[in-house]
Amino acid sequence: MHLKTIINCAMSADGKIALKSRRQTKISNEDDRKRVHKLRNSVQAILVGVETVISDDPKLTVNEKYVKSPRQPARIVLDSDGRTPSGALVLNGAARTIIVTNERCRKTFPNAEVVRCGRDEIDLEKLLPILEKKGIKKMLVEGGSKVIWSFLKARLADEVCIFIGSMVIGGDTAPTPAGGLGAEDENSIVPLKLKDAQVLGSGVLVRYEVVK
Ligand SMILES: NC(=O)c1ccc[n+]([C@@H]2O[C@H](COP(=O)([O-])OP(=O)(O)OC[C@H]3O[C@@H](n4cnc5c(N)ncnc54)[C@H](OP(=O)(O)O)[C@@H]3O)[C@@H](O)[C@H]2O)c1
Repeated sequence: MHLKTIINCAMSADGKIALKSRRQTKISNEDDRKRVHKLRNSVQAILVGVETVISDDPKLTVNEKYVKSPRQPARIVLDSDGRTPSGALVLNGAARTIIVTNERCRKTFPNAEVVRCGRDEIDLEKLLPILEKKGIKKMLVEGGSKVIWSFLKARLADEVCIFIGSMVIGGDTAPTPAGGLGAEDENSIVPLKLKDAQVLGSGVLVRYEVVK
């Protein structure tokens, strides 16, 4: 059995996940936050890219407002050169934190273990078995744009959950759920199979299976 990976993100009706400055904005509603915190509590790890840590400074913990006695999954940051700021909330000791750097990086961090993997960017194919050995069976990938594309491109994601908030953000350069280099031709497009769609308060949750 391989590590199950679920991508989760919130986008506006026009497919943007942040402002054009890449600054975070509230897209989720209270029903969606409740769902996300329950989902976080059901996995062993939550993974993000270092740009999300730098721009949003997320805690990546389960809020007791939504889940009683939360289990607090591990927080994982893909961070080739060790750019995670020492004051980042993921380093606050509130849950286990793993910073994944490349093999050349020698940085260490307070309240975090370091896993070295890949020569330049993190090699996800190599990383997942390492995480599995650490007891991670199910992992949530919460972004951002570049990391989500990397998981989809390598077909390392099993499921995609997108909450669509009722708003328009606009802007040619505002990030979308999957950024990075994107598909170069039709053959590189990642097909999805619709699992379900559900109205969640003022927005819609759409869930897909990744076709491999
Ligand atoms: N609405 C939502 O649900 C949501 C959720 C999260 C984030 N966001 C938004 O997403 C934006 C940030 O996304 P982003 O695309 O700029 O950055 P990102 O995906 O958060 O981080 C990308 C960085 O991760 C590092 N990385 C290391 N190995 C990687 C790999 N194999 N694949 C991909 N990245 C790897 C790279 O930096 P190094 O080269 O330094 O390692 C890369 O530049 C922000 O605007 C944030 O607000 C929105």
